[in-house]
Amino acid sequence: MSEQLNSVLDALSRDEKASTERLFQIIRIPSISTDPAYDEACQQAAEWCANTLKEIGFEASVRQTTGKPMVVGHSQSGNGKSGPHVLFYGHYDVQPADPLDQWDTPPFEPQLKDDPKYGTVISGRGASDDKGQFMTFIEACRAWHETTGSLPVSVSVLIEGEEESGSPSLAPFLEANRDELTTDFALVCDTGQWDADTPAITTMLRGLCSSEVVITGPSRDLHSGMYGGAAHNPIRVLTNILGDLHDEDGAVQIPGFYDDVHVVSTEQRAQWDTLSFDEKQFLGQVGLQTAAGEKAHSALEQIWSRPTAEINGIVGGYTGPGTKTVIPSKASAKLTFRLVPDQDPDKIVAGFKEFILSRLPDDCSAEFLRGQGSPAVGFDISGPAFQAAAGALEDEWGKQPVFMGCGGSIPIVESFKSELGMESLLVGFALDDNQIHSPNEKYNLTSYRKGARSWARILENLSKM
Ligand code: BES
Ligand code: MN
Ligand code: MN
Repeated sequence: MSEQLNSVLDALSRDEKASTERLFQIIRIPSISTDPAYDEACQQAAEWCANTLKEIGFEASVRQTTGKPMVVGHSQSGNGKSGPHVLFYGHYDVQPADPLDQWDTPPFEPQLKDDPKYGTVISGRGASDDKGQFMTFIEACRAWHETTGSLPVSVSVLIEGEEESGSPSLAPFLEANRDELTTDFALVCDTGQWDADTPAITTMLRGLCSSEVVITGPSRDLHSGMYGGAAHNPIRVLTNILGDLHDEDGAVQIPGFYDDVHVVSTEQRAQWDTLSFDEKQFLGQVGLQTAAGEKAHSALEQIWSRPTAEINGIVGGYTGPGTKTVIPSKASAKLTFRLVPDQDPDKIVAGFKEFILSRLPDDCSAEFLRGQGSPAVGFDISGPAFQAAAGALEDEWGKQPVFMGCGGSIPIVESFKSELGMESLLVGFALDDNQIHSPNEKYNLTSYRKGARSWARILENLSKM
């Protein structure tokens, strides 16, 4: 290890308390991007990020978009032109905190808590996704800057505020700022580790697209005694059709749904087999026992290499106290589809529409509202950046990182590739039970501390590329 890196790691240890307090500051800002009531908080969070970057030597600014503001920063490496120029990406927006009554302590009042399994954890909405995670990188930069006066490689930073709402303004923003944002490759800290002791590099992300369907039967709500039997009930129509979406083996029944899906290669399967994924434990921690996806695939394959059709919400009719004898006029459902490489979001949504329309009985109609869509993305892990990161992670964790898939989605990462021609290196320190998007979200203090140390090492290894 270089003497410089040694001093940087020492600086991180010395600064631990203040570093945690800085994370608390950003968690206290309720930057929920899906709810316009928090627009002001999103602006505040963006400003906090830009000011933090300026403090550690970046030239940084908040950029307005038609949606949430973006934060962009640049820092030249100390040693002139050597090493790659990287773009670090993270998101300051968080998911809504609901249901509030299920939080042990308020979501935007971060605290250190004792956790029976992990020792000390940081609680709060965004503690893990993605404030704790992107701050591991920022804190590594701070330590490098304070110790040596600059960073070992040139770093640009992009922190957005729309990730949790599908990044609608991002594509136009990338387009308009192509030259400024295009670097040799991107670094992303928004994914997980294999387990608490084993670091990971994520090699693929699933894509995502969505659709909302509204079924209308009668032109108004009806008395179910006066019309019951003779009138179509749109809830029944909707649930009947959605009931056909999967067969008994868990396969999606939309024609053409699997047309572009590739079989996992033998090498890939062999590598995943070496991971000895504990399916019982994975399902057991959320009160389940049996994988519910396509029977021909293991739980790991179901989340990493197979697409899904998920009904996320369904509404219709009367759900208040007591009974109401009504046949509602409308019923609706929201669905999302997780995609694997080469599936086309437009084609999947079109297939879903056709699936509904072809089953619609006389006198019923369907309307569709479409959300954002982004394709899946996979990375070539043979490049030198992957090796540099793997070496750094092994030095920090005393264990080689696992190359793993990911069932989740980060829409921008595909745009980096298709719009800017950039590969991404995904290194994150979250754990499956960080409860991201759920009540009592948390981030291990160890993840935060060792995450920053990992990035400090990765930055140095990249400078030697
Ligand atoms: N950080 C997550 C993605 C993720 C989830 C990575 C699980 C690793 C494990 C990201 O913030 C996220 O939640 N993405 C959304 C995207 C959507 C709202 C467009 C997702 O995957 O649902
Ligand atoms: Mn995230
Ligand atoms: Mn998220």
